[in-house]
Amino acid sequence: MTFLFNSDARRGAIFADAFEKALPNLPFSVDASQVDPDAVRYLITWTAPADLARYRNLEILFSIGAGVDQLNLEDIPDHVKVVRMVEDGIVRMMQEYVLLATLALHRNLPAYLHQQRQGIWSPMPQKQAEKRRIGVLGLGMLAQAVLDRLKPLGFPLAGWSRSPRDLDGVTCHHGEAGLRAMLPATDILVCLLPLTSETRGFLDNDLFATLQQGAALVHVGRGPQLDQAALLEALDSGHLSSAMIDVTDPEPLPAEHAFWTHPKIILTPHIASVTQPESAAQAVIENIRLHLSGRDPIGLVDRTRGY
Ligand code: NDP
Ligand code: OXD
Repeated sequence: MTFLFNSDARRGAIFADAFEKALPNLPFSVDASQVDPDAVRYLITWTAPADLARYRNLEILFSIGAGVDQLNLEDIPDHVKVVRMVEDGIVRMMQEYVLLATLALHRNLPAYLHQQRQGIWSPMPQKQAEKRRIGVLGLGMLAQAVLDRLKPLGFPLAGWSRSPRDLDGVTCHHGEAGLRAMLPATDILVCLLPLTSETRGFLDNDLFATLQQGAALVHVGRGPQLDQAALLEALDSGHLSSAMIDVTDPEPLPAEHAFWTHPKIILTPHIASVTQPESAAQAVIENIRLHLSGRDPIGLVDRTRGY
């Protein structure tokens, strides 16, 4: 029985150390060429290796990240459990980023950065937090943590998911009707949806038109969820005020892409949240223990939903 680690060497060393202490009887390898493929029961990776089929006895494929859209779930044999990354480090970083982004958009930072570059000193009217309604697309692990972090700031909070949710201090919506109710009552929209066939191209003209005049977007889900032309149109027409974008399609964007220099866009290179190897190793170890005791690992992906 072997655990195969397929990611960068720095993380590999931290995982190896944690596994040696916690699961000393489970051989751990960072080198696929040195393992007997039939011995590999667990694999952690970002994308599925081209030769995945050689690991005939694989039981769990762990994603090194929170998302699993990069894995092509249909190529992974049905008997293999796919588990996304659920760990404290990734959660804390996403809380920080969305706090940073919502405050930046709430306080008109893109417009002030633009003014600074032009040598303009011109205060703008400022809304109070109680009047800035934040709506989050997705109410999963990351969205719930983000909403918790935003609570003390006084923004009215809402969220949207596929199935009904009940969260303290958050107006929860679900389904198509819920989306139609939330969007017109949203000033800052945060996208924290997984990429699936249903969410591809989700942030489109129709969605932007339904948002409040002057609304802003924080996009931290996945690049292909955003119709980039639709966003540019909404910003250039003045319907949307600004956007903070962390994920794009492709990554990175081509040098001539409008997002690089757009005065209403702050762009970051997919750094909202990054798996922290120390806490991630503990999460994976705990999941192996759960699996060995016959229970489902935390973060088990539902193949039919795609997340
Ligand atoms: P979860 O699986 O915990 O939550 C997903 C949420 O989205 C759930 O609330 C789910 O609804 C909702 N959802 C999914 N599909 C639909 C749909 N069609 N309609 C309505 N709601 C839907 O995911 P996480 O919170 O862990 O992560 C979310 C995503 O964040 C990741 O998949 C990844 O793409 C992105 N991410 C980005 C990072 C970055 O650095 N930019 C870092 C980490 C993650 P329900 O509750 O009903 O199931
Ligand atoms: C992730 C990511 O899914 O880095 O973890 O986006």
